[in-house]
This record gives sequence, structure tokens and C-alpha cells, in this order.
Amino acid sequence: MKKRVVIIGAGHGGVQAASTLREDGFEGEIVLISDESDAPYQKPPLSKGYLQGKQTAQAILFRSANYYNDNEIDLQLGVRVNHIYTQENQIELSDGSKLDYDYLIVATGACNRKLLFHGKIAEKIYYLRNFTDAKVIEEKINPARHIVIIGGGFIGLELAALAIEKEKKVTVIETEDRLMKRVLPEALSKVFYDTHKAHGVEMLLGVSVVDVIDGKTIKLNDGKTLETDLVLAGIGVIVETELTENSDISFDDGIVVNGFQQSNIPNVYAIGDCANHYNPFAKKSLRLESVQNAVDQAKVAASHIMGKPIEYNTVPWFWTNQYHLKLQMAGISFGFEEAIIRQSPKPDRFSVYYFRKEKLIAVDSLNRPADHLNARKLLAAGISPTKQQVEDFDFKLNSLLID
Ligand code: NAI
Repeated sequence: MKKRVVIIGAGHGGVQAASTLREDGFEGEIVLISDESDAPYQKPPLSKGYLQGKQTAQAILFRSANYYNDNEIDLQLGVRVNHIYTQENQIELSDGSKLDYDYLIVATGACNRKLLFHGKIAEKIYYLRNFTDAKVIEEKINPARHIVIIGGGFIGLELAALAIEKEKKVTVIETEDRLMKRVLPEALSKVFYDTHKAHGVEMLLGVSVVDVIDGKTIKLNDGKTLETDLVLAGIGVIVETELTENSDISFDDGIVVNGFQQSNIPNVYAIGDCANHYNPFAKKSLRLESVQNAVDQAKVAASHIMGKPIEYNTVPWFWTNQYHLKLQMAGISFGFEEAIIRQSPKPDRFSVYYFRKEKLIAVDSLNRPADHLNARKLLAAGISPTKQQVEDFDFKLNSLLID
């Protein structure tokens, strides 16, 4: 009897899991289920090339239209999974039908955290997570003159940069005292602040929104009121609990998985943003919200299903592009004790090396792609330069990689 793998979610993780299974010779059935009606597409271009008008919807698709048929991947679009019955190895679909599985891969990602005022989700605030959101924002952004963006994180700032390119007046409101504080040290937050400011973005830091009325009037906790044409927000993501809450799958800010992406139910795997895993680079359990993580965890789950297990042990990496700034992050700087800046002679081109004790744990590179690639190799090999070597711009860090 042929085995069946059912994959829930056709984002970066889900599509990669299906492709890897086929490439590795899986001969059973693969069912790839997505509650979106669009053919599977890449997410990073949504807040970059797509909304900038530089990439078409067609250009951001993962695969050609016939890929799924040609590879016998049963892609079911516009179908939501309502429940997982782990005892029966079955899922329930939105039309009430049931589908059996031998292996289940949950790749459902995360969803936008929404702003609540007076206990209710505020209306007429637009968030970006999927292609449908991008189409709505595209339509709203063009006629708007003044755009207020709530949240000075990845999404908020990428949207701010592209709204500036479209010659809009832009205001960013961030509750923290600096931009991208969740992931960046002060020196990098400052570069992003200065660059956005130089492009004309008004930034209100350390300020909270207490109400948004009709998507036009924004009331702040300092008593001020802003009037605007459009309110966008990027205030982080959460993992939906709906799918697992009435099941016996362990959940703790995400589906809890082992190093092979297996949940406590051995034939149920979770990958990507929704998987809470022990990360050997962070040395703690966490969820990672990145394309790299989704893709690599998909390969791990597929390898386990194929009986050739490889444990998850990939250097995490992330990136963001805003104006001329290309920031690439390797490793996880959480818990660092010392951050050393390796400054190139040119402005806005440097890398920050994070050390815990004498060990390199992460590197953020601004407009220094070669540093980023070297950092990934150093971290993967567990090789630490000394702090003096990092400070010495003439010392070639990649020489440490050569035996
Ligand atoms: P984020 O966590 O990067 O930033 C959210 C920001 O909103 C934080 O700075 C936070 O302090 C602020 N904030 C929270 N509540 C607020 C409030 N009530 N008022 C004002 N500010 C508030 O999350 P973001 O930007 O929503 O991105 C979500 C996810 O999208 C990322 O975690 C990632 O998965 C993905 N993403 C990744 C990108 C990349 O790697 N380049 C780019 C864009 C998005």
C-alpha cells in the first residue's frame, strides 16, 4: 500500500517538504493543502519587489503551473483543515470531508498579531502577511498621500521604505525606544533610524497608539492625534492554536517538536514559523520566523519520513532590504555578552560580531554580503575568530576557514 503524506500549508516550508520528498524518491501520495486560493508563492517579495512594482505575481510563484501535476503533488487550494484526529490518522477539511494520512506535516506558519482597542480588533488597519493582504495594500497605498505605519519592525520599515519610493508622506509609530529592537543592537537601529529620517520618514518612538478611528484618526498615549489617509501595521506574529487546541499535539507558542521536526505524536511533524524547536545555535527552544528555517526544517522532516534522518542543525539567517541598506543576519545574537563592530572604510558598510564568552554566536552584516557568507560558514563550522581578529579590518576572517 502506498503511503500518504499530507502537508498543511503551502508556504516556503510546505512546498519545500513536497519537493524534497519527491526529489528524494518518495513514491507515495503527497497532498499539499492551502487555505489560500493563489498558487503557492514566495513571501519575502511581497514587502519588497511585488509592492514596489518590480516583480509580478507570476514572478514570485515557487513553481510553474504544471510542476505540481508533473510531480504528482495533489495541490488543493482554498481548502482549510479544521481538525486533526491523531488517533485515527485523519484530518477534517473545511467541506466536512475527512482525509487519511500516514504522515502529517503541519506547515501553517504564523499570522499577524492585530491591534486591539477597547477589547476589539480595530477596523480599517491593514496588515501584510499573504498575497491577498499585498493586493489590498497595493490598492490602498496608491491613492493615499499620508500613510501611518504602526510598528517599526521588519514589515513596518520595509513598507515605510517602499511608501517613500512612492513619494508618500510616512509616519512610523513604534512603542519601543528604537527601531527593530527585537533583533538589532543599538548601532544598527541607529543606522536604520538615520536612513529613514534622511528619506523623510517621521518616526515616533516610545509612543503607543490608544485608538484608531475609522482608519483615519490615530490617538496616541501622549495625548496627540494624527490624521491620515491609510493605516498599516506590522506588530509581530502569533501562531494560531485553532488546529491543535482540541488535539493531543503538544503546543507551547507553537507545535513542540524534536530535532527531526516530530511532535509528541510521532507521525505528525511541524516545520517553519509554527514549530517550537530546540535551536542548537540559540541554545534554547524557540520559533524562528524565516524562510531559511522553514526550508531547512522541511528537508529535515522529509528526510525523517524517508528513513534517512538528518537532525536540524542549520545556522539561522534572516535579511531585510530598506533603501540602499541590505541587512543580513547570521546566527542568533540572543544572550550575547559583547558586540564588536568591524567597520569597513565606507559608511553604512559594517558587520557586528556577537560573542558569548569568547565564542562567536552571531553576525549582522550591513551591506557586507561577503561577511555574511563567511559568518554562516564560521558559525556552521563552530570556528570563532578572536575579538582582536574581528577588530582588525585587514585580518581576513575567511582565512580561518581554510585548513
Ligand atoms: P517584528 O517583530 O519584526 O516587528 C514588530 C514591531 O512592532 C516591533 O518593533 C514592536 O516593538 C512593534 N510593536 C508591537 N506592538 C506595537 C504597538 N502596539 N504599537 C507600535 N509598535 C508596536 O514583526 P513584523 O514587522 O510584524 O514582522 C512579522 C514577521 O514577518 C517577522 O517576524 C518575519 O517572520 C516576517 N518578516 C521577515 C522579514 C525578513 O526576514 N526580512 C521581512 C518582513 C517580515
